[in-house]
Amino acid sequence: MNWTRRETLGGGLAALAAAGIPAVAATQNYVLNPASIMTTFGGVQQELLGFNGSLPGPELRAGQNDSLRVRVENGLQDGVLVHWHGLRLPNRMDGVNVLTQDVIPPDRSHDYRFPVPDAGTFWYHSHYLSYDQVSRGLFGPIIIDEQQPPDVDHDFTIQLFDMMTDENGVYDEDTGVEQFAAAGRIGNVITAVVSRDTVQRGDRVRLRLINPSIDRVFDLRINGVEGMIVAFDGMPLGQPRPFEDISLAPGQRCDVIGDVSDEIAFADEDTGQTIGRIVAHGQRQRRTTVIPALPPNPMPQPKGREVKARLLMQGGAGGGNHGGFGTWALNDVSGLPREPLLNVRRGTTARISLYNATAFDHVMHLHGHHFWEISNTGQLGDYRDGTLVPAGGTRDIQCVLDNPGNWMLHCHMLSHQADGMATWLRVT
Ligand code: C2O
Ligand code: CU
Repeated sequence: MNWTRRETLGGGLAALAAAGIPAVAATQNYVLNPASIMTTFGGVQQELLGFNGSLPGPELRAGQNDSLRVRVENGLQDGVLVHWHGLRLPNRMDGVNVLTQDVIPPDRSHDYRFPVPDAGTFWYHSHYLSYDQVSRGLFGPIIIDEQQPPDVDHDFTIQLFDMMTDENGVYDEDTGVEQFAAAGRIGNVITAVVSRDTVQRGDRVRLRLINPSIDRVFDLRINGVEGMIVAFDGMPLGQPRPFEDISLAPGQRCDVIGDVSDEIAFADEDTGQTIGRIVAHGQRQRRTTVIPALPPNPMPQPKGREVKARLLMQGGAGGGNHGGFGTWALNDVSGLPREPLLNVRRGTTARISLYNATAFDHVMHLHGHHFWEISNTGQLGDYRDGTLVPAGGTRDIQCVLDNPGNWMLHCHMLSHQADGMATWLRVT
């Protein structure tokens, strides 16, 4: 990947914006070819899946308000669909089987084209048999640049990925089948794939953290950077927020801006392992400016009477009976119900109460929209596309359903989704 070009491009946009010249919306064209690849993972050469020969797939990048045009050419022996996680796009571009399009068969291609109204850190991944295809490598980053990007020396992505392997270090599909009913298939090989391997002490960096792992919630410690969280799930925080550890559930993202004090090390707090490093050399004068808030993305305003819905998360090991046929269920149904959880007119403000009646955590992800997490005191919290609901816990979310279409709402622990934890909303 050509990082230099990318960084120059960011600088160029900033220079244009500083000169008061608006950047012209452009169309960025990409081709993605999912196929099986031979690659080295966890130190072992093996057959996995990739886009354009690589795991993770190539970074897709565009400016805010540009359009992305992506041709997916299916080189797998199986069907595929690509979902653009976190992007607010037209429903027919969402890449979801049954709800928005048919599966792309082997040797066939499909064109996706959509504008990107929000700047931030997003990602793409297979949405067909995703517990399997994503776990084998079908995912990659999408970066949408602000019209005036923040002043940093380097902007890079860190993808936190785990995989279950057998005693030879090879991807193992049999290991952990019983975990579909528990915390999911948590990998024994854990890595942070970093898009850059050196920095200078004193550099200001933007770290875009993405968790494409199918089931693992990361509890991440970042050493060597003194910084602030500036965005979750692609959406800027009103105020940069100090942090110690960062929790990232499957599908979630977090942007950090900070100054490099030493070698950067990404530590997984659960296992105590350092899972990625960026070497620091030299020393430059640190910036004295404070870490800036990112410019806000356009957000719809809640208005009118709030429509309420309630979603009961059920099942799993140790769970009680429920009406669904699968291991997991939502409101007594396993898998997509015939009727949507909500059927509302465009522009409706909805409040969904998520009750986790299971013994495991779940991260609920809504397609085509972001939502506010509501605090216990009723305040609007962070604006995200995935929220982690702890075992036995509840969480209310508020969402302005302003994007017409049929949208999935599901657990992004993909082993849970595969075994029933999914529903949908209809906006007309
Ligand atoms: Cu990232 Cu329905 O998924
Ligand atoms: Cu789940």
